[in-house]
Amino acid sequence: MRLKVLGSAAGGGFPQWNCNYRLSRGVRKGEQGFRARTQSSLGVSADGRDWIVFNASPDIREQIAATRELQPGEEGPLRASPIRAVVLTNADVDHIAGLLSLRERHRFVIYATARVLRVLAENSIFNVLDGELVERRELALNVPTPILDCHGRPTAIVVEAFPVPGKVALFLEDAGKAEEGFGTQEGDTVGVRIRQEGRDAAALYVPGCAAVDAGLKQRISTAECLLFDGTVYTDDEMQTAGVGTKTGLRMGHLHIAGSDGSMALLADVAPQRRIYVHINNTNPILDENSPEATAVRAGGWEIGHDGMEIGL
Ligand code: MLT
Ligand code: MN
Repeated sequence: MRLKVLGSAAGGGFPQWNCNYRLSRGVRKGEQGFRARTQSSLGVSADGRDWIVFNASPDIREQIAATRELQPGEEGPLRASPIRAVVLTNADVDHIAGLLSLRERHRFVIYATARVLRVLAENSIFNVLDGELVERRELALNVPTPILDCHGRPTAIVVEAFPVPGKVALFLEDAGKAEEGFGTQEGDTVGVRIRQEGRDAAALYVPGCAAVDAGLKQRISTAECLLFDGTVYTDDEMQTAGVGTKTGLRMGHLHIAGSDGSMALLADVAPQRRIYVHINNTNPILDENSPEATAVRAGGWEIGHDGMEIGL
């Protein structure tokens, strides 16, 4: 099984279009130790031919342009794509807006939880994906689901979605329910366990996660590779950077650093390959030469970047 990080940044990308914080400025200037990153997405394939895209980011067109494997084969028919399915882990803009770029009458399948499918159903703009061509299939929670293409043929990739502590998409927050997670319900945010049919080796992809509980730790301890929420390094980072008022937890993202951060909480369970993805443009680990990036690497973590490949 091959995994390819298509986009390693959080919503906004790196640099973000309107951001003038030192990190976005650094990458714009091409400073040493900085690399540009597109928004959150992962490609997975069992055979290198059929691909499943996990989360369709607003940058998907650019990501396909940068990824030979996701382009039509040179000898293929006039309209073709190796993308057989899109799996969604939540309904955030950075994970669903790219669906709109996948119109043009290509047949594929969308897999998502009932909660996320409801968001697509309630926003009629997604009808640009003709239901005759783009089937929407429910991803049941806590059950291994073989990902099938539009003809019902196996892609040999099996996905198990499991709920993680998180938050309903920003544009669906119910301000009147601030005390109850802004209306967040089970299935709004999931992690996925990904493996190839007939093999045990699994990758866990969890781009959004607000807390580490015993269940999550147990799942992580049985995976060979972990791609985990690396949105913020410290919870109050957006405030100290002066670019925003929200904490990481308010956005549904657990910070990396500190005794209550993901690096410490997962130290005894995370597998050899542990990679931070969904990295926000305020996160100091985006500067490869920063003390924070050094600390993360010393903790055994890799800092995800676009084009990063993992073989399992
Ligand atoms: C998030 O991950 O918190 C969201 O993508 C934020 C957003 O919708 O911009
Ligand atoms: Mn996001």
